[in-house]
Amino acid sequence: MEKLDEIKLQRATFDDIPAILDVEKSVIGTKIYSGLTGAEDAKTELTNDIYYLIKSNNKVVGNTSYQLKDDGSAYISGLVVTKKFQKQGIGKRAMQMLLEMLNDKKVIWLMTHPENEKAIALYKSLGFKQVGKAIENYFNDGEPRIKMILERK
Ligand SMILES: CC(C)(COP(=O)(O)OP(=O)(O)OC[C@H]1O[C@@H](n2cnc3c(N)ncnc32)[C@H](O)[C@@H]1OP(=O)(O)O)[C@@H](O)C(=O)NCCC(=O)NCCS
Repeated sequence: MEKLDEIKLQRATFDDIPAILDVEKSVIGTKIYSGLTGAEDAKTELTNDIYYLIKSNNKVVGNTSYQLKDDGSAYISGLVVTKKFQKQGIGKRAMQMLLEMLNDKKVIWLMTHPENEKAIALYKSLGFKQVGKAIENYFNDGEPRIKMILERK
């Protein structure tokens, strides 16, 4: 396993789409995660979301994104770590950095697959709690998702 230095978050541009798709390609093929598959989808997300590359040693090792909602909440729309760089704490560190950036937001929420144990454990370790029951076919991929919320004072 390749070991990495401290990570940083860097705003992504359309030039980064090939690198973003490489990250997605490394994790694709499970029912618990529906990633980006093409450049057009990536362009839409980069336009609609605040989108960051997770970088270490100047290399892209993942990506994460959010949207600011009209109700004042922040919605975490994505978190992915390249398969070969997983289990080194990168996902958790990136999420901590995102939460620091969003420190004026009292409500932060996300949707994840009820069987995505790694993701659920990571979010719980940062204070997110599941609310409500699983919602079937939430992202139109035939799979359920649960909502998790972090509420801050
Ligand atoms: C979910 C995801 C982002 C987690 O990323 P990650 O970088 O592997 O996460 P972390 O390393 O921060 O933590 C994950 C696990 O690795 C463990 N870990 C952390 N550092 C470690 C180390 N040095 N050595 C071994 N394990 C380690 C953590 O304790 C955690 O273990 P646990 O699941 O048993 O509690 C990643 O699995 C992923 O990209 N999955 C596919 C996309 C996806 O599902 N995204 C979430 C959508 S909501």
